[in-house]
Amino acid sequence: MTGAERRGDGRRSPEELRSHAWYGTDGLRSFSHRARTRQLGYLPEEHLGKPVIAVLNTWSDINPCHQHLRERAEAVKRGVWQAGGFPLEFPVSTLSETFQKPTPMLYRNLLALETEELLRSYPVDGAVLMGGCDKTTPGLLMGAASADLPALFVPAGPMLRGHWRGETLGSGTDMWKYWDDKRAGLIGDCEMAELECGLARSPGHCMTMGTASTMTAVAEALGVTVPGASSIPAVDSGHSRMAAAAGMRAVELAWRDLRLSRILTREAYEDAVTTVAALGGSTNAIIHLIAMAGRSGVKLTLDDFDAIVRRVPVLANLRPGGAYLMEDFHYAGGLPGLLARLADRLHLDRPTVAHDSLREQIAGALVHDDDVIRTAGDPLAPEGGIAVLRGNLAPDGAVIKHVAAEPHLLRHTGPAVVFDDYRTLQATIDDPDLGITADSVLVLRGSGPLGGPGMPEYGMLPIPAHLLKQGVRDMVRISDARMSGTSYGACVLHVAPESHAGGPLALVRTGDPVTLDVEARLLRLEVDEAELERRRAALTPPTARYGRGYGALYEQHITQADTGCDFDFLARPGEVPEPYAG
Ligand code: FES
Ligand code: MG
Repeated sequence: MTGAERRGDGRRSPEELRSHAWYGTDGLRSFSHRARTRQLGYLPEEHLGKPVIAVLNTWSDINPCHQHLRERAEAVKRGVWQAGGFPLEFPVSTLSETFQKPTPMLYRNLLALETEELLRSYPVDGAVLMGGCDKTTPGLLMGAASADLPALFVPAGPMLRGHWRGETLGSGTDMWKYWDDKRAGLIGDCEMAELECGLARSPGHCMTMGTASTMTAVAEALGVTVPGASSIPAVDSGHSRMAAAAGMRAVELAWRDLRLSRILTREAYEDAVTTVAALGGSTNAIIHLIAMAGRSGVKLTLDDFDAIVRRVPVLANLRPGGAYLMEDFHYAGGLPGLLARLADRLHLDRPTVAHDSLREQIAGALVHDDDVIRTAGDPLAPEGGIAVLRGNLAPDGAVIKHVAAEPHLLRHTGPAVVFDDYRTLQATIDDPDLGITADSVLVLRGSGPLGGPGMPEYGMLPIPAHLLKQGVRDMVRISDARMSGTSYGACVLHVAPESHAGGPLALVRTGDPVTLDVEARLLRLEVDEAELERRRAALTPPTARYGRGYGALYEQHITQADTGCDFDFLARPGEVPEPYAG
């Protein structure tokens, strides 16, 4: 009989905690672990018999989005102590979206691997995962899902609204916009220097509905955060209270052994897709959710996305697709308000870390501003903002965030202008001799999971300066890259298989007509099959880029965009043995 059965309260006994094997047995090792905990300065009564809660922190000096997490970890630990647990903070790999090259996406799986192995190899009964800047959320959750311990996510929270000369600025989104204005000669260096100070003016992740806001909302929709956590601004005192509540809750989850596998079900992942659609969220969420679901043994496909997204209206009026920022979203009711408006499309009977059912969790949630969080009768767009495209140019799929594109481009045929890599594109895009017109279709290859490597966010290809000066602000662009969630435009992304892996993108030549038809979900190279076959036969496969190190591991095991870019040996289900602690 388990301790939980004996007491009838659903709780394990201290002897049933995983950490008991480290601290509570009679052996030499256990003696040593206790002696070393004395060395850390703790009394026996401070920790023995209590659940050990690992606080995994992605704070570092190079991540401006997480600069408050060092201090916020103290609030998490306060909550853990208050609830009778023993908190231990662990620094984990910091993925700083802005600074890490070629892209933090190259390292998402490294963070996931580190998270999984750290949780497994130490005396951990439960975990609080602290992240928010783009890839940190999926990286932490993928690793924790594989370790399958009780765990909660503490989202970093969005930064405050940006400001410049009376304008409200969105980090990312307005960076692209004003950079184009500078290239078009509309603003100068003084304005740019002011913008540098106004775009991102507080701790926290990007406050548009970019990848960070999308993925933290995904975490809340999956049910792995304190309710309402994901939209609280990073510097709001409510953020500290949420962090303390997460610490408290982690202790309870550890006693109950409520593992992530109980929460991260197929229903939960479907609800996360529904949420991304209603938010008009980032295209990156597709890759991350497929990878996260894979860790939970749930097969989520691009077709699942397309089917769900077609049925869900965009309700969140947030940039880049809409008008407002995350601060406004929070004051309007945040994710609980949005989920309440989506209730008839969600699986309400599934459990979350905080409640026995999602129904209970969102009961009574209110929306305070119908312009920020729309009603289903007055949506921002009648269907979700993302479409999955197929055709001879993307046999395994591609995606477009059509809600953030100029509508006249959503059905378009034009001549391709091909760039083999991003450096060449940057060096030559403004060259008038390329003959690029507003009707051209810009094609960038060599930027996928292998080619990039890491699928850098090159997908919003720059528009040539001479067209910007004519007022052109959008064109059809196609690549095997990703795009920042704060970007916009008629950009076809994640083309799979990528050119580097011999995908048809490698066969396109400048001048070939290419058709995009979002309504028909079509991406087609208008060249006959016999000619494509000839071109295919003449292709020389690229050589491996990395001779050693993490890059070599990455090259050998990375999967394509349509299957989530996880490592093949991590995406597999299967048991991993518990370490022997004696
Ligand atoms: Fe960190 Fe945008 S740069 S979330
Ligand atoms: Mg981003």
